[in-house]
Amino acid sequence: PVIRLEDYRPPAWLVDTVEMDVRLDPARTEILTRLAIRPNPAGGGGPLRLDGEDLELVWLKLDGRRLAAGDYRLDESGLSIASMPDTAAVLEIATAVDPSANTRLMGLYRSNGIYCTQCEAEGFRRITFYPDRPDVLAVFTVRLEADKVAAPVLLANGNPVESGDIAGTGRHYAVWHDPHPKPCYLFAMVAGDLGRVGDTFVTASGRTVDLGIYVERGKEDRCGYAMDALKRSMRWDETAFGREYDLDVFNIVAVSDFNMGAMENKGLNIFNDKYVLASPETATDADYANIEAIIAHEYFHNWTGNRITCRDWFQLCLKEGLTVFRDQEFSADMRSRPVERIADVRTLKAHQFVEDAGPLAHPVRPESYREINNFYTATVYEKGAEVIRMLKVLIGDAAFRAGMDLYFARHDGEAATIEDFLACFAETSGRDLTQFKLWYSQSGTPEVTATGRWDASTSSYELTLEQSCPPTPGQPVKQPMVIPIRFGLIGSGGDMQPAVVEGDGVTGDLIELRAARQRIVFRGLAERPVPSLLRGFSAPVKLTTNLDDDDLLFAAARDSDPFNRWQALQSVATRLLTDAQAAIRAGGAPAADARFLASLRRTAESADLDPAFRAQALHLPTQADIARDIGREVDPAAIHAAEDWLRGLIGASLADTLRALYGGLALNAPYTPDAAAAGRRALRNAALSLLSATGDAADIEMAERHFRNADNMTDRLAGLQILVRAGAEAAEAALAAFHDRYRDDPLVLDKWFTIQATAPGEATLGRVIELMRHPAFALSNPNRVRALIGAFASGNPAQFNRPDGAGYRLLGEVATQIDRSNPQLAARLLSAFRSWRVLEPVRRAAARAELERIASLDGLSRDTSDIVRRSLE
Ligand code: ARG
Ligand code: ZN
Repeated sequence: PVIRLEDYRPPAWLVDTVEMDVRLDPARTEILTRLAIRPNPAGGGGPLRLDGEDLELVWLKLDGRRLAAGDYRLDESGLSIASMPDTAAVLEIATAVDPSANTRLMGLYRSNGIYCTQCEAEGFRRITFYPDRPDVLAVFTVRLEADKVAAPVLLANGNPVESGDIAGTGRHYAVWHDPHPKPCYLFAMVAGDLGRVGDTFVTASGRTVDLGIYVERGKEDRCGYAMDALKRSMRWDETAFGREYDLDVFNIVAVSDFNMGAMENKGLNIFNDKYVLASPETATDADYANIEAIIAHEYFHNWTGNRITCRDWFQLCLKEGLTVFRDQEFSADMRSRPVERIADVRTLKAHQFVEDAGPLAHPVRPESYREINNFYTATVYEKGAEVIRMLKVLIGDAAFRAGMDLYFARHDGEAATIEDFLACFAETSGRDLTQFKLWYSQSGTPEVTATGRWDASTSSYELTLEQSCPPTPGQPVKQPMVIPIRFGLIGSGGDMQPAVVEGDGVTGDLIELRAARQRIVFRGLAERPVPSLLRGFSAPVKLTTNLDDDDLLFAAARDSDPFNRWQALQSVATRLLTDAQAAIRAGGAPAADARFLASLRRTAESADLDPAFRAQALHLPTQADIARDIGREVDPAAIHAAEDWLRGLIGASLADTLRALYGGLALNAPYTPDAAAAGRRALRNAALSLLSATGDAADIEMAERHFRNADNMTDRLAGLQILVRAGAEAAEAALAAFHDRYRDDPLVLDKWFTIQATAPGEATLGRVIELMRHPAFALSNPNRVRALIGAFASGNPAQFNRPDGAGYRLLGEVATQIDRSNPQLAARLLSAFRSWRVLEPVRRAAARAELERIASLDGLSRDTSDIVRRSLE
């Protein structure tokens, strides 16, 4: 069935308190739940409906009376009690589940012998019968008991109340109480033989909080960075948003089988261990940055998500977009703001823009769904964060902060909506946000065209801005949006100020594009300007200008906005690559561009620029960027060839610069994961990667030494990647050495799987199939599957999109097999098909055939059939 936003009705019954008694057992865990319920005064009562899935109902009592089979109705998706009193009541439910057989990793399951839970979005119904919806908030008290040897650690949400042994049974128990009312998707419990790393944090108002990170025994020494990131997050939320932590303890548990990145359960965050565990030997700089961002993200949810939650799942971006925005700002404050922005925009374009351009496009706030788990998307998360960022740019920092304060004050303890949220900012800014709200309801990436005209005779520059938005599923026609365009006018000496500005919507350095077409005239300029538009990527739009390469390279050297300096070079590189792939497809040879190479060299050599920024400049646009620029009849092999060509050209033309960078940036100090050291490594590895793209024997040898002598994972992996990508003879030996060194470390072997899955060349498909039989690989573990199959399908466009369709068939076969055990994981893998419609005809037909084959199968999960169906629609 399709669930629709417009059909929202308040719950008929409210739950005030939940008391649970959980008797953990690997095969049959019993859960006794006591609910204090009452009819919702806001129009409710009547029959009681509880969600429940894959549950054994042991018994049911209403106000102490055992209900007979005729008193309720049990079906596939839950339980109904038709004749309820119209007063408050106590409902007691006994259920039983088999955690060891739970392969979906939703509800209560076991990961490497550890009991853990995942309830967002709809996993609590796999533990007990309950109104499993985010607008039912209750105070939870949880008693857990388990075998003392198998599970010495017993954790749940909130604060610990008591614990003890159960005499003569070998079992023990612990009671946890969470005073903050919460929806059941924030429920969590964990039990197992876990190691603990502890610390404390004193909040701004002087409350001491016990911090704990729980990991599989033997991994305690890899938690230091996560703990440090947690304490920095807690401090940052106090200073940046005035938000303090609100319990006596804050616990994080790392588990090795987890469908997503992590989960913000109140006081008990549960993480995919990939985003907790780090040591210089096993984690790259990128891993460290991800850990910092995700620890922060989950912690920040304590206020944006937990204290204020969502009324229904259509409001998911209320917590996710806002929390991504908050974690991005945190990382920007911890590291380099421009570099963080560049990295975030790269991700946005590579994932969200691609999603928005294909059959799975949906608004930041979707209006209907079949399976909510398929809407934890780049659009809800990343575009959702961009919408918050735009709001801040439009209303200004002060009104934004005041609006956040008002939101926290007004809606604390509530389940809110986007309307509630926006009303706070309308109030503090005094602005009408009606048009702004279209960002939540219109899908697709708006296209902005900027046409500039210089009139030397009047020293004026006329800028015409036009906006449109392509049709997306269910939305053939769009209305103009409000698009904040931060800008500057660059002259030979830097930013210029016009004497007079004519036209609507310009204040200071901001243009508010509201109409389909807007004209602005800047008068009294000393020379012809090059406009720098969309500074800091102030709106998630596709911008097209009438600037030529000379203008862009002029800006690349002078723009006072670092983001646009980077963007200018990228735009020229995109044109070069797009032209190059066209030439290759036409059987011709791509043409070099000396001005681009000179500009790139200047940037790489600019000692006054942050090495991390220069590394970003040396990273070419992704293949997805080029595919999007081409837009139709895409040939991924030609794009790949164009990329090889340009990398080789840069490596050859800038060889002396790149060698000097490589030599000069070596760090002669022990590894530290800080941004400055990471930036140097990033630039040095980018230089080495481009150098070896020529295939020159001396450079390949240098990469081999780099790999062999590395004293940290960042350099070792970079070296390995370069050797594999270059198809170097030394690659096989290096892969074997890497494997032997890390054979017992699954998270590191994931990197080894990924490097091979993303290797160029037709042999890769066979290699992936072979690696599926490797003893460290397991279809049951999401990290393994994503590292091998996910990386092949999403990170190797040329080989996944083989014209013979074998890449599609492999993905289809693996995903449909996984669908029987873990539908969420299967559906996510299949989203790799999201761009199939823009492919050239041969590949398009092959992709369609595979999608249609999957669609015709019996017994597909709701997750998978939803993705496949929408992909084909
Ligand atoms: N709320 C989590 C986060 O953003 C994501 C959990 C999603 N889980 C799921 N099964 N859909 O950190
Ligand atoms: Zn989140």
